[in-house]
Amino acid sequence: MPVLTGAAERPEWRFFAALSKADRPLATAWWIVLVLRGVLPAAFAIATGVVIAEVQQHRSTTPGLAAVGVTFILVQVLAPIHQAISQNLGQRVSAWLYDRLTDATVAPAGIAHLEDPTLTDDLTVAREFDAGMTGPPMFLNVEFAATGLLDLITGVASAAVLFGYTWWAPLLLVAGWGATHWLLRESSVWRDRNTDEVRQAQREADYVYRLAVDPPAAKELRLFGLVGWTVERFVARRRQLFDLQYRATRLRERPVLWCLLVVLMANAVVFVALALDAVDGHLTLGRVVVFAQAAVGASLIAFGGLNWVLDGAAAPVVAVLKLEKAMAPAGELSRGRTPAAGWPAREIRFDSVTFAYPHAPAQVLSGIDLTIPAGSSLAIVGVNGAGKTTLAKLLCRLYDPTGGRIEVDGIDLRDVEVDSWRRQVTAVFQDFIRFELSLRDNVAPEGAPDDVVRRAVAHAGAEGLADLDTPLAKAYAGGTDLSGGQWQRVALARALCAVELGARLVLLDEPTAQLDVRGEAAIFERVLAATRDVTTVLVSHRFSTVRHADRICVVEHGRVVELGSHDELMAHGGRYRTMFDLQARRFQATQDEEGQLYDLLT
Ligand SMILES: Nc1ncnc2c1ncn2[C@@H]1O[C@H](COP(=O)(O)OP(=O)(O)OP(=O)(O)O)[C@@H](O)[C@H]1O
Ligand SMILES: [Mg+2]
Repeated sequence: MPVLTGAAERPEWRFFAALSKADRPLATAWWIVLVLRGVLPAAFAIATGVVIAEVQQHRSTTPGLAAVGVTFILVQVLAPIHQAISQNLGQRVSAWLYDRLTDATVAPAGIAHLEDPTLTDDLTVAREFDAGMTGPPMFLNVEFAATGLLDLITGVASAAVLFGYTWWAPLLLVAGWGATHWLLRESSVWRDRNTDEVRQAQREADYVYRLAVDPPAAKELRLFGLVGWTVERFVARRRQLFDLQYRATRLRERPVLWCLLVVLMANAVVFVALALDAVDGHLTLGRVVVFAQAAVGASLIAFGGLNWVLDGAAAPVVAVLKLEKAMAPAGELSRGRTPAAGWPAREIRFDSVTFAYPHAPAQVLSGIDLTIPAGSSLAIVGVNGAGKTTLAKLLCRLYDPTGGRIEVDGIDLRDVEVDSWRRQVTAVFQDFIRFELSLRDNVAPEGAPDDVVRRAVAHAGAEGLADLDTPLAKAYAGGTDLSGGQWQRVALARALCAVELGARLVLLDEPTAQLDVRGEAAIFERVLAATRDVTTVLVSHRFSTVRHADRICVVEHGRVVELGSHDELMAHGGRYRTMFDLQARRFQATQDEEGQLYDLLT
């Protein structure tokens, strides 16, 4: 059935299908009321004809007037009911689309789909569908679609009444008014809304809008004098969008002239025929009134609302569903079946691991060979961009290596069940998340007994920051915000809590970078104690913490260039020794200048 499949793929049909998927009973009610409203004007025209006939024939006008009254009242009553249904249905459609979008972004096991430039671009455009940037929000779309469809049904129903007059009149009028759809189909509809120019303008408008209204940029916007720039850029991009839309959708003169001609001819023929038949006495006055009304009513078939509405209303549905389809394969990882409970029990081994980020040409890791015995601690050092965080992300299995393999207890990580492996792993990421949740939920997002949470908070030096129930965001009642270092303690507490709940591998990527020097030393002692029995991978630029690790590896140009204990590497006198000495001299200088004793490097 390729024809049917093709029709089902058309944007308009996907929009109508979305109505039912969002809420079938409500969508059914919407259609029923729509059809009822569509045929009522034709019924009203017939009822007026009946009244005229009754008057002319000196019969009782009660049945005719009753019919006129009922249809009139129904027209009045059904309109607001339908409007309410439309708005409700529209809100459900947007909720359904948001659900689809959220599913599409969180369902894949990996995160590559959120870093693919085309998909993120699509996502920016798709997630704005209800913001009124390039079309009305969905509740209005559904209401407009109702109005457009109503016109179409009313027009067809009116034309159908004309079959009571003659077979050719309705066909002629439907063809005449219908031709406007064909003649004007390239006018007034924004077909090329998906060009790079439109998408870029939309993305940039969205970006500066967020800069302006979201709190995180508030400081820099003011300090760096970017307030005017933000406003100007937003206005310019929005104006560009309006211009593009105007150029694409403005009515073209030639098709409009053709439309006028075709419609005028069809109507002239029908009305002249009606007039002649009336004059000849072939038609009674009642029938003339009915058919004349029906002929006027058929004009509602004309190109207009429905096309404009469906074009705009279907675009977000198509964008969201397309994204859903594309994101799944882009972010998915091979889902191995071997459960990982209790791993690593023996070791983690990087075997000639190479890696390049998807959609980025540069190779970040170019042959990492490294074994981390279970229960030991390994520190990774290296310059900015060396690939330290990347190693941690591979261990979380957010990506798979492009070459080589990572083995846990002898099993390729690709063959391990992702969720069960992730339950063995916990991390303080360099760019850890600050949940707008209570302290308790920040420390134990999946839940934990209060005493476990409290212990983790204490080990991370976060006691006294807030009650467990205090929301860690100013925007909430009773909420509080924390300093950078205080937040880092909360992130550490989250990892320590996970260790107590059973995680076997702890990744600490710059976990103390924001801590004051004294706090760092004290907390790191406690963190080491709390993670003594598990495997720990620590990334740090601070050699005061690095030196406590069982072994240290230096990563350079995507390879491990040195590996050994602090003492071994110092004795070796290579890169590690150079970096260590450099930092030691700096601290020494600080100590000399301030006359304070920082007991850091001894
Ligand atoms: N999501 C990404 N997509 C593409 N390239 C990336 C991505 N993340 C990092 N890179 C690149 O990979 C390289 C290694 O980055 P990584 O974050 O692992 O460095 P790092 O050693 O942790 O550095 P730092 O000490 O600054 O934290 C960098 O050149 C970086 O530009
Ligand atoms: Mg890093």
